[in-house]
Amino acid sequence: MEKELVRLSKCSMAFDGDVVLENIDLCVKDKEFLTLLGPSGCGKTTTLRIIGGFLKPDSGDVYFDGVRINDVPPHKRMVNTIFQKYALFTHLNVFENVAFGLRVQKHEGKKLDKYEISSRVIKMLEVVSLKGFEKRDVSLLSGGQQQRVAIARALVNHPKVLLLDEPLGALDMRLRKDMQNELKQIQQATGITFIYVTHDQEEALAMSDTVIVMEGGAIQQIGTPEDIYNEPKNAFVADFIGESNIVDGVMLSDGVVEIFGRKFKCLDSGFEHKEPVDVVIRPEDVDIVSPDKGKLIGTVTSVTFRGVLYDIIVDFHGFKWLIQTTDLCPVGKEIGIKIDPDGIHIMKKSRFSGMYGDYSSYSAEYDDISDAEYEYETEDEEEH
Ligand SMILES: Nc1ncnc2c1ncn2[C@@H]1O[C@H](COP(=O)(O)OP(=O)(O)OP(=O)(O)O)[C@@H](O)[C@H]1O
Ligand SMILES: [Mg+2]
Repeated sequence: MEKELVRLSKCSMAFDGDVVLENIDLCVKDKEFLTLLGPSGCGKTTTLRIIGGFLKPDSGDVYFDGVRINDVPPHKRMVNTIFQKYALFTHLNVFENVAFGLRVQKHEGKKLDKYEISSRVIKMLEVVSLKGFEKRDVSLLSGGQQQRVAIARALVNHPKVLLLDEPLGALDMRLRKDMQNELKQIQQATGITFIYVTHDQEEALAMSDTVIVMEGGAIQQIGTPEDIYNEPKNAFVADFIGESNIVDGVMLSDGVVEIFGRKFKCLDSGFEHKEPVDVVIRPEDVDIVSPDKGKLIGTVTSVTFRGVLYDIIVDFHGFKWLIQTTDLCPVGKEIGIKIDPDGIHIMKKSRFSGMYGDYSSYSAEYDDISDAEYEYETEDEEEH
């Protein structure tokens, strides 16, 4: 998977003077499953359309296999697209929908013969588990079956790259999960490079080799799902990917951060002495202990049963954290918390600082966080 297949270099795009993509640099490797993830309007579809050749960037270059393809039209790129609103031909049956691209295709000036078309269509219907559906009217299929016809139609031409724009958006949760698995299997079985667009972070983490997080027409982070989740680059990424408590901290030295006047051990280093930072603490990384053993002490203000876990909101002097726990902690209970060093992730301050990661609306008490009632740490380190 090391060979580079598609590259965007410094691509920018504006519509009517509004910049919607700014200096996009990205690289997609052969056979990779790469996902563009970000909120609505961040420029995902626009990026995909530039790769597909439906849009020319105002500036910057598009490369395929090392060759600049800015001026190559869509049908001459080895790329197929499943659009956000996949449009099947409702007057054609399942077989003809999939065969359509092959019937218009020419190989060395000659059309493909009908046996080859038939065998390729049948094989592709097998791949998407629709064998036996050849004669069905597409308008009578379920949403998931229609989706699979769209996938078969896009794959039958053997593209090198398949662009998929929120292909599962219209499906219910259950079907969506099944189709995620199927798509991943199809991608692995065919070895086709997938560039996938979604605003669903769980879907991106579950399916991708590489995730690109976008916001406001710019790339915020590129990495594996694990990187993006465990080492978010800024408060936007931390908040967008999963649940995060994001609090202000001050780096005291390598591996030591101060939060709410208390010292916590962490694994991060390379910051200035006393550098203000954003600290991410995932709800599942907080250990609940008795108040006398806690580094911080707070009061449970709400409890939501989620099946395996409870989501509890805990008020630490006006700043509310989300904590996930298997123990029932009733509303009103005072609890202590501890966090292991690997449950703390430090980020540089950014333009997103202070915008995300607080589970309450602003509370006046937050200003009083260092009031007399709050117990400051006196000894240097406790149990560490
Ligand atoms: N042809 C166009 N003319 C004018 N503005 C456009 C055009 N296409 C996209 N935009 C604008 O560019 C921005 C990015 O759009 P884009 O479709 O790339 O977003 P997206 O990330 O795909 O969002 P969604 O998740 O809602 O599909 C939006 O503000 C959109 O309104
Ligand atoms: Mg879109």
